[in-house]
Amino acid sequence: MKIGILYICTGRYSIFWKEFYLSMEKNFIYSAEKHYFVFTDSKEIDFEKNNQNIHRIYQEDLGWPDNTLLRFTMFLGIKEDLSLMDYLFFFNANLIVLEKISSEEFLPKNNEKLVATLHPGFYNKKRKSFTYDRNKKSTAYISKNEGINYFAGGLNGGITQAFLEAICSMSNKIDTDTKNNVVAKWHDESHWNRYLIGRNDIKILTPSFLYPINKDLPFKPIILIRDKNNYGGHHALRNKRNNYLNRLLVILKILFYKIKKK
Ligand code: GAL
Repeated sequence: MKIGILYICTGRYSIFWKEFYLSMEKNFIYSAEKHYFVFTDSKEIDFEKNNQNIHRIYQEDLGWPDNTLLRFTMFLGIKEDLSLMDYLFFFNANLIVLEKISSEEFLPKNNEKLVATLHPGFYNKKRKSFTYDRNKKSTAYISKNEGINYFAGGLNGGITQAFLEAICSMSNKIDTDTKNNVVAKWHDESHWNRYLIGRNDIKILTPSFLYPINKDLPFKPIILIRDKNNYGGHHALRNKRNNYLNRLLVILKILFYKIKKK
């Protein structure tokens, strides 16, 4: 069984890679052949030498919020490689696996196709407090009568074909938003929540799998979210190159990529 792990660490986020990788090798589904697809602008990353399972893909640092918003487009750039996997999972850069995780508890089974994780900030909250995208101009828009759970963008995946379909659909919608000068409230996370509305083929992971460090939640911490503040904070980590010219450049790059693929 091959599991593709999608991981983005451009710019300063590369500091998270080493411990993430070590914790995954130690604790994540021991029986699986794990392939790490690491999108980074680092010239070299730890453990990549003589390692057939670490695939480093050059990814320019697009700045905030495109580093997160355009993740699905990045993944589609290596669609052929990803389609060789049985399962695909995206992990946020600052995660670390604390406890052993078995295939039974993590992988979709029976009629499940996708895997989504309950956001640790909303597992016990009412729908009206969910931070879904409420902007009707956005393709991630969710009305106040829709949705049962609020899912996090930091850990998701599924059976390869189902997840590739999901990222293809979300990437197209994000392109439409970009053309309409709209950015969904919580970027890729808003689109993921929209995509999951009304589906009954989702395996739901509890916040045990996205447990923020130093928080007191009624779950056992299995995958820990490291505090970005201990690594310079959000602002230092994010490359805030989000001026008009840069976004224009990004849109042109997407168009170029799409034309090239046709
Ligand atoms: C925050 C988190 C964001 C986003 C937001 C949703 O806690 O840092 O990435 O998920 O919740 O409301």
